[in-house]
Amino acid sequence: MKHLLKLLDCSTEDIIGILDLADQLKYEKKHNIPHRHLEGKSLGLIFQKSSTRTRVSFETGMYQLGGQAMFLSNRDLQIGRGEPVQDTARVLSRYLDGIMIRTFAQSEVEDLAQYGTIPIVNGLTDFCHPCQVLADLMTIREKFASFDGLRMCYIGDGNNMANSLIVGGLKVGMQVSIATPEGYRPAQQVLDFAQPNPNFFLSADPMEAAANADIVITDTWASMGQEDEKEIRKKAFQGYQINDELLAAAKPGCMVQHCLPAYREQEITTKVFEEHADEIFEEAENRLHAQKAVLVTLMGSKEA
Ligand code: CP
Ligand code: NVA
Repeated sequence: MKHLLKLLDCSTEDIIGILDLADQLKYEKKHNIPHRHLEGKSLGLIFQKSSTRTRVSFETGMYQLGGQAMFLSNRDLQIGRGEPVQDTARVLSRYLDGIMIRTFAQSEVEDLAQYGTIPIVNGLTDFCHPCQVLADLMTIREKFASFDGLRMCYIGDGNNMANSLIVGGLKVGMQVSIATPEGYRPAQQVLDFAQPNPNFFLSADPMEAAANADIVITDTWASMGQEDEKEIRKKAFQGYQINDELLAAAKPGCMVQHCLPAYREQEITTKVFEEHADEIFEEAENRLHAQKAVLVTLMGSKEA
């Protein structure tokens, strides 16, 4: 693996390798076993959108790995004033050992990888959120020990999270069922990948999608950049909420995941959120471990 641009590029072995390493790094962190695999290395963090989890987990993750991270906000970089990404990539490749970028267009991330010479990690685009879904898969495997026979269900917007969950879920061998309103379907590129797979189910009916699910997942109805559509979306997504009625269709004791930030009483009720808070915040913690595994895989050697 040279980059993490989207899960569509990753093999099942790549994904499982990262999850295995993430489990090991989490164990080592909990037991204070040093794992300074990236001593002397620098990671640039380019943010063109807000972030709490991604920024803090990458910064502290690099520190724990013995390296350093540099927060590069769009407001300060020349990229924000129109310097081409191709030039930014060629310059930053001469200073840094890797770049994580959060931006709007997937093409910008792909361009960084094409023009730069160092590993590029996608920290969220409008198209996908691979780092989050690696953490989700890690959290799911921690609870169920294996992906075999699991049914993962996603209810809501066919957005970056839906796109990555479909690809990641199918690649590790889970059944993946999705319910989105018409007009808010996942990306065509993802549907083209998923639809030939008999483990993929797409529906407009949330109850049908949730039937027998082991894991139920949702995300905000209005992603970053869609603030103007909030009211229209609120109407379009009525009925696509994770609540007690929906969970009654899933397997008893099913897991609930949310990448956060969560909007209570919209995509998830306060009651369901709080009843599943331990799972949701474990998922948030696992961002740290999964991303450290990504960084070590791309930027370092596993030997400390
Ligand atoms: N889930 C996630 O990516 O959170 P942030 O937007 O806070 O980074
Ligand atoms: N779909 C959300 C995810 C936030 C982590 C967004 O893009 O804003």
